[in-house]
Amino acid sequence: MARLGMAEFSDRAKAIQPTGVRKMFDLAGKDAIHLGLGEPDFQPPNTAIEAFYQAMKDGHNKYTTTAGLPELRAEIAGLWADLEPSLTEDNVCITMSGTNAVLNSCLCFLNPGDNILIPDPCFPLYGPHATITGAEPKFYPCTFENEFIPTIDCLESLVDERTKAIIYNFPSNPTGATITVEQRDELLDFARRHDLWIITDEVYDRIIYNRNHVSFLGGGYDKVVMIQSFSKTFAMTGWRIGYLLSANIELMSEVKKMQYYITACSTDAMQYGVLEALRRSPYYPSEMRDAFWERRDLICRRLNAMPGISCHVPEGAFYVFPKFDFPGWTSVDIALEILKEGVVCSPGSAFGSAGEGHLRFAYTIDVEKIDAAMDIVEMVLERISKSPPPEQPTLF
Ligand SMILES: Cc1ncc(COP(=O)(O)O)c(C=O)c1O
Repeated sequence: MARLGMAEFSDRAKAIQPTGVRKMFDLAGKDAIHLGLGEPDFQPPNTAIEAFYQAMKDGHNKYTTTAGLPELRAEIAGLWADLEPSLTEDNVCITMSGTNAVLNSCLCFLNPGDNILIPDPCFPLYGPHATITGAEPKFYPCTFENEFIPTIDCLESLVDERTKAIIYNFPSNPTGATITVEQRDELLDFARRHDLWIITDEVYDRIIYNRNHVSFLGGGYDKVVMIQSFSKTFAMTGWRIGYLLSANIELMSEVKKMQYYITACSTDAMQYGVLEALRRSPYYPSEMRDAFWERRDLICRRLNAMPGISCHVPEGAFYVFPKFDFPGWTSVDIALEILKEGVVCSPGSAFGSAGEGHLRFAYTIDVEKIDAAMDIVEMVLERISKSPPPEQPTLF
């Protein structure tokens, strides 16, 4: 076969790179303990699996309308009715995952030459999704010192006349940060002042500890679209199903038009599975959350007792994002040292430059394994605290 030169590929393909989270995963041996990938170690509720299977047997193996099954959309609208009572099935578009929903909204709002404000550190797909549209991702830092919440002054310093949209993500991947109603209102006001679209990624809204989820819906601003996913809510990362929701019906018609050209529609029978889970297993996410809660307490206690490491106790999602203080060491080199001893975690820099100086641990394994992994991490960090850093930092 003739060799292709890089010139053959589009600028957008060349502008995006694989993420560091995946690279760690690919380097891991088969017996490694995984605290790397962000997926629950649970199975979807049986109600969902059975309804999915039954729907296939009943012949639901066809295209659906682009926006998805009307009963499912109506059920979803009902979930958010306390915040936006006017919502109906028309305000919901089923997508093939939260990832698909992020891309869809970037494609709907952004033109080449625009820019979009994106948290740093963040879910590593946001920047490339903006790049794919030809827009410029502009990153706003969410620092440890500020509990991973952006300051309005910092946002004001970044916004300009070409800024079209801002992505918020609470509870956050990778930091687990959540916001109060007052913080939400300030962030909403910032967007309103600059007439920005808000893309609010709330896929972890059901994995939240000790407080209620604060949504950007119902805040009285109509340029808001919510990214949602059933990946985390019902532990179905491999199913690939989520949705976009907005009270703004004009926006929804753009989103649905775009969705047609991206995937035509989501999976027919699977939508029946999700509908049954919503109707018959409404407590499933809270039960899973309770298991994460115990793990969160354990991993934070263990990490905070280690030398050179400190972490906030996150109030949402299933990640902890400790800061480390080992002069000269990068997060990639520390993650690689930990990996050599058989534990996979993610270097903070995989989530953006503001993530350097941190590691991300996804506590998606049981408490015994977390304890065993923490013994190893502690041993490696003890060693690192007494060792000089590598002469050349490893580049991912
Ligand atoms: C913040 C955030 N948004 C969106 C997603 C995408 O989820 P999915 O594509 O599985 O629906 C993830 C997955 O890790 C995430 O962490």
